[in-house]
Amino acid sequence: RRYLRVLGIETSCDDTAMAIIDDRRILAHVRRTKLDVTNRVGGVSPYVAAEHHRESIDGVLEECVSRANVRLADLDGIAVTRGPGTVICLKVGMDKALALCQTYRQRLLPVDHMRSHALTVRFTDASVQYPFLCFLMSGGHCLLTLVKGPEDFLLLGQSVNATSPGEAADKVARHLRLASIPELASTCGGRSIEILAASAPPGGHLKYPMPRGIALQRNCDFDFGQLKSRYLTYLNVHGPVSESALPSFCASYQHSSFKHMATRLQRCIEILDDKRMVPDDRRTLVLSGGVASNSFIRKGLAFVAAKYGYRLVCPPPSLCTDNGVMTAWMGLELLEAKSPTIIERENVPDSLY
Ligand code: KG4
Ligand code: ZN
Repeated sequence: RRYLRVLGIETSCDDTAMAIIDDRRILAHVRRTKLDVTNRVGGVSPYVAAEHHRESIDGVLEECVSRANVRLADLDGIAVTRGPGTVICLKVGMDKALALCQTYRQRLLPVDHMRSHALTVRFTDASVQYPFLCFLMSGGHCLLTLVKGPEDFLLLGQSVNATSPGEAADKVARHLRLASIPELASTCGGRSIEILAASAPPGGHLKYPMPRGIALQRNCDFDFGQLKSRYLTYLNVHGPVSESALPSFCASYQHSSFKHMATRLQRCIEILDDKRMVPDDRRTLVLSGGVASNSFIRKGLAFVAAKYGYRLVCPPPSLCTDNGVMTAWMGLELLEAKSPTIIERENVPDSLY
């Protein structure tokens, strides 16, 4: 079988990322982030991000092509994130993809960002076959989905509001002023909480317990908005946490966050079992997203998964954050599946927006 070679372009958020893959081999992988800008404005400003994409995209492409040492005319297709994401940022990637398709007579492979996150594991681990259960947890998303094929997703649970576990942790960390601790100054909120929680005394994780009444509904949806606001309210009412109590506070928050995920995962697996939707030889749970790099959460969820006979697979953290490899890989899967969403060379339009 001839290997497929795909360029992936991802500009949905603040990273300008591109990769060229040849089946499961990365020929080149380039990513540019303006973290300094992001930090200064206290979050990603869409206008700043879009400007950054426009400034970076040609340089990223050039570097990617020269590192891969391939001719763009020799590709099998160009994959590009079509959404979801910030429209003015997506447009920068899409316009570039369309122009390249026209110049080099390539097929266009429009890719869904969330789905490409979920499929990444099949790039890094060829043993993961359909269907598999995927739990995405990051600064942008929280969802549980049964992946039955590259375009066949059964969404089982998602955030009931705009708050993700990563964003909630970052907000709590900000209120705790963890960035003012010199060793944590350049560490993200979730990781800072994890580091402090590790030094909590035994039982410290129960000192500031999970507020009651969160996510009692009989579904698999997540409510990190409520979790976050309960802890923020506690801080507003009781004032700042003393330095000596910080580890216990962080351990409690982390534990509550984990418990919320664990109970939702459990419910989800039970629903799937009820409907006999996952065969015994396909019991694989994929954890992905920045929050999955938290070892307390990962170990805890691995324990839950094992109880139900699921093995746990986690793609490497570098491919869990936004990147061009995941976009290219999903494009490759679309090619292999002969997806009707592929836009053939002769039909590539001038603009999609
Ligand atoms: O997937 P990701 O790198 O980026 C996107 O969301 O696109 O996720 C970033 C999020 C941040 O909110 C960060 O606080 C969180 O992941 N995070 C963690 C850890 N490392 C990163 N949360 C908990 N524990 C960690 N070790
Ligand atoms: Zn993402």
